[in-house]
Amino acid sequence: MALHLVDHPLIRHKVGLLRSYDISTSHFRTLSNEITRLLTYEATKDFATEKKTIKGWAGDVEVDCIKGKMVTVVPILRAGLGMMDGVFDMIPGAKASVVGFYRDEETLEPVQYYVKLANKIEERTALILDPMLATGGTLEATIRLLKDAGCKSIRGLFLCAAPEGVDRILKDHPEVDIYTAALDERLNDIGYIIPGLGDAGDKIFGTK
Ligand code: URA
Repeated sequence: MALHLVDHPLIRHKVGLLRSYDISTSHFRTLSNEITRLLTYEATKDFATEKKTIKGWAGDVEVDCIKGKMVTVVPILRAGLGMMDGVFDMIPGAKASVVGFYRDEETLEPVQYYVKLANKIEERTALILDPMLATGGTLEATIRLLKDAGCKSIRGLFLCAAPEGVDRILKDHPEVDIYTAALDERLNDIGYIIPGLGDAGDKIFGTK
């Protein structure tokens, strides 16, 4: 449906910290989850609530609760795992659907090597997690996989996005909402986001 650049002083500050070339693995992980909590807040803003009467300390009290919404997080292996706890902090009942792709060296197309979806995917809102929305190839494949499985409500959460990837997804899947903490300038010639964060997977997993 739209691109949501989640613009908030806390997010801008935390993204600034993420960009530091010598950030530690533990700080990168902590910040990724903190930002994801804020993205989750924004990406669930339209969830409907319903009234429920419960027993409070001074008698019956009417409270709001989320109405019949079932959520699945969909971390894209491996870097998406680094955002998963941020969603679980906000939506503890969410189930996880995990997907993995590698890039075919000849066709350059993403090839699925792992998928395990939550049950009742057709009734759930999917929150796809990937720190970087670069070319959009893997995201496009993930959206297609979810749609083929019957999922009707799909949103993507990113720490950093490139205009090239955003344009591709909005063109191919205009009903998908993209929530990103930063919208950067461009991709370089090897598909990295500039200025970006570097290799987010390496930073989250401490590999180099
Ligand atoms: N994946 C990354 O980890 N970083 C980028 O800049 C692009 C894709």
